[in-house]
Amino acid sequence: MGPVPDSELLVRKIREGTVIDHIPAGRALAVLRILGITGREGFRVAVVMNVESRKLGRKDIVKVEGRLLKPHEVDVIALIAPTATINIVKDYKVVEKRRVKIPRLVEGVLKCKNPTCITRKKGEYIRSRFRLVSEKPVILQCVYCGTLLHEDEILAQVLGEQE
Ligand code: CTP
Ligand code: ZN
Repeated sequence: MGPVPDSELLVRKIREGTVIDHIPAGRALAVLRILGITGREGFRVAVVMNVESRKLGRKDIVKVEGRLLKPHEVDVIALIAPTATINIVKDYKVVEKRRVKIPRLVEGVLKCKNPTCITRKKGEYIRSRFRLVSEKPVILQCVYCGTLLHEDEILAQVLGEQE
């Protein structure tokens, strides 16, 4: 056993749940926002920010105890945290580890930038839907009006005034 990482000095290991690791530093709160986790759901949630990482220099970590997040629920965070790994923990052990991957269809998270798009009409409750047209760089296309959304615009939308 090596030295205890400083992230574990801040927040202990969890018994059961999901650990989202290797989040680019400063983006943990945006990750929670995308996942719709507010803290009001009653799960214990730990947010660790700006801890040392061998791969990233600095990174953030989010631990959600008592909830096993499914791949389709978390993959959308790849839009802002492409380096993130999802660790499913059971009985204190990591039983599954995988990288996030941008889903082929991104629903409800982003806003179409075309002001006349049907998803932006008041009174119409049509969730935004974007198709993934390129992964590197990330380019999404609105299913309804065809407008393209580029990586920098996606980051700006999700991170808002944070960065
Ligand atoms: N973790 C946790 N509770 C556990 C087990 C692991 O909170 N019961 C956390 C660890 O602190 C770490 C992440 O889950 O942030 C992944 O754990 P592990 O695979 O043991 O760490 P590494 O081998 O360092 O992971 P990687 O190779 O992905 O960097
Ligand atoms: Zn549109």
